[in-house]
Amino acid sequence: MPFTAEAIMKQVKQRVAILVGNRGRGSNMEALVLAMQSGRVPAIPAVVLASDPDSPALARARALGVPIQIFGREGCPSLGAALEGIQLLCLAGYIKLLPPEIIQMLNGQVLNIHPALLPKYGGKGMYGRNVHKAVLDAGDSESGCSVHWVTNNYDEGAVILQRRCPVLPDDTPESLAARVLQLEHEAYPTALAQVLGED
Ligand code: GRF
Repeated sequence: MPFTAEAIMKQVKQRVAILVGNRGRGSNMEALVLAMQSGRVPAIPAVVLASDPDSPALARARALGVPIQIFGREGCPSLGAALEGIQLLCLAGYIKLLPPEIIQMLNGQVLNIHPALLPKYGGKGMYGRNVHKAVLDAGDSESGCSVHWVTNNYDEGAVILQRRCPVLPDDTPESLAARVLQLEHEAYPTALAQVLGED
């Protein structure tokens, strides 16, 4: 390998944090961590962050052996402090807007996964069951997921990649959500590898 700055940078693995939701299952977090732990995605799953110590995703993170950090509570660091030394942040089930200074401190290196084909069915309030119900109410014949950059507005950053699936005639929001979730578990690690320049 040539001794260039680019070659050296490629060998230094980036430290990735994953921010989970307070009620999230953590299945996307798990898919990302497993992809990094297996070496498929050459990055370090440095920490899983949550603002609620009872988030179900945290038990999953513990089982995977990833450090966890609660932020923004008495005796806990702020989100900014918890992200010291992190190069890239993946949101996984976190439904609030991130403070602009957090996106800035990470030089915009913040990803999210959304369970629909953006720009359709994005924006405030469009999360979980609401998204899939809206797709069914509109009579769309396909849905899917989108991995995108995070900005100061809900679901508006550039899309990195999407995966598609059919909407079936007898779908409920739950059955559609389950089909889309399967796509998410492949899409998110693939997008992460892509932004790290490995795919
Ligand atoms: C996923 O559907 C994702 O698209 C959305 O939140 C959900 C999180 O699910 N952003 P999980 O906690 O990763 O299982």
